[in-house]
Amino acid sequence: MAHIRTQVGIIGAGPAGLLLAHLLHKAGVDSVVLERQARPYIEARIRAGLLEQGSVDTLHDAGLADRLHREGLAHDGMQLRLAGRDCRIDLHGLTGKRVTIYGQQESVKDMVAARLATGRPLFFEASEVALHDIATTAPRITFTHEGAAHELRCDVIAGCDGFHGPSRAAMPAEVLRVYERVYPFAWLGILADAKPVSHELIYARHPDGFALATMRSETVSRLYLQCAPDEDPANWPDERIWEGLHARLGGVNEGRITQKGVTPMRSFVAEPMRHGRLFLAGDAAHIVPPTGAKGMNLAVADIRVLAPALLAFFARGDERLMDAYSATALRRIWKVQRFSWWMTAMLHNSNGNDPFEDRVQAAELAHVMDSEAAQRFLAEQYVGLPYDA
Ligand code: APR
Ligand code: PHB
Repeated sequence: MAHIRTQVGIIGAGPAGLLLAHLLHKAGVDSVVLERQARPYIEARIRAGLLEQGSVDTLHDAGLADRLHREGLAHDGMQLRLAGRDCRIDLHGLTGKRVTIYGQQESVKDMVAARLATGRPLFFEASEVALHDIATTAPRITFTHEGAAHELRCDVIAGCDGFHGPSRAAMPAEVLRVYERVYPFAWLGILADAKPVSHELIYARHPDGFALATMRSETVSRLYLQCAPDEDPANWPDERIWEGLHARLGGVNEGRITQKGVTPMRSFVAEPMRHGRLFLAGDAAHIVPPTGAKGMNLAVADIRVLAPALLAFFARGDERLMDAYSATALRRIWKVQRFSWWMTAMLHNSNGNDPFEDRVQAAELAHVMDSEAAQRFLAEQYVGLPYDA
C-alpha cells in the first residue's frame, strides 16, 4: 500500500471541498482532495445556480471569480406570483445587496482548474474511501485509485463528500443527532434553449403547484415545476411540461429541452459537525430544499468558518476556532434552514391534502406581497445573512 502524507485530507470535490483546498493552499497549508467521480461528471452535474452576494465576495477574495464576474448575471430583484398577481421584490433597494446567477457546475469548473494549477493532488475516481482513527491526532483515509490501494495520513480530515458520502457515517452514532424533514413533493427541473421570459426570477404559487422560472444565460432557461416526490420524468413529456409552465407562470418562452431531472426536497441537519479530527462541511452535514437556492451558499459559509479555524491550528497550534467550528457554523445554518423551509412552505401546495395549510400559506404569500416589512424580511435572507450573525 502506498502512503501519502498531508496536513488536511479533503473528501469530496464539490464546492465545499474545492474552496477549502484553495483557501488552505493560498495560506500555505497542504491538502489532498479525493473525489469519487470523474472530472467530466462533476463539471457537468446540474445543480442550482444562485449565489448570495457574500458567496460572490468570498470567491472573489479567493481569486476564483474572474469568469463569474464576466459571465454571471447580477440580479437586483425577483418576482413573486400568486393567482395571476405579480409583485417585484426590490432586493437591492431593500438590502443594498444583489444576487448572481451562475451555474454551480461553472463554479466547480473554475475551482477544479484553480486546484489543478497548483499542482497539488486532486484524485478523481477515488474508490473505497474510508476514514480511520478520526478521534486521534493522526487520522487516516484509505482509498483505491487506478487499481492501487493508498493510505493518506493527515492531521485533519474535512468531510466535504455530500449527503451520501462516508464522512458523516464515520462519526459514532451516539454523538450524532440528526434533524430531518422530508417534503411530500419534488421539483421537476429542465434546461431549455429558450430566452428567459423575464430578466428576473419568477416564483409562482398556483393551485396546480409551484413553478420557478430561472436561467443560466440570456439564451438558456432553467425552469422548475412542483411534482410528486417519486415522480418519473418519463411521465412528463415535453408538451406536458410546457403546458404546466404556461399555466403556473403565466407564459414562458419555449425551446428545445436539453436536460430533465427530478430534485427531491429535504431539510436535514447533523449535529455536531465535528468529531475529533473530522470536520463536516456542506451537504455532508446539512441539506436544504432547493427553494431559495441556499445549498452552495451554505457550503461556502461553512468553509468561511472552517478554513480560518484550520489555519489557526496549523500556524499556531491554536485549537479555539476548531473547537468553536460546529457551534459557529450551526448558528447560521439553522437560520438558513428556517428560511428555506419557510420559502418552500409558502410557495408549494399540498395537492388538496391539507386545505387549511394551503389557505394559510397562500395568505402568507399575499402578506409578503402586501407588506414592505415582510418583503424586507424575505430580501435580507434571500441575498444572504451576514456571516458574523
Ligand atoms: N468518496 C469521495 N468523494 C465522494 C464520495 C466518496 N465516497 N461520496 C461523495 N463524494 C463526492 C461527490 O461525488 C461530490 O463531488 O463529494 C462531493 C460532494 O459535493 P457536493 O454534493 O456538491 O456537496 P458540497 O460540496 O457540500 O456542496 C453543496 O452541492 O449538492 C449541492 O445542493 C448542494 O448546492 C449544494 C452544494
Ligand atoms: C436555479 O437557478 O437553479 C435556482 C434559482 C433559484 C432558486 C432555486 C434554483 O430558488
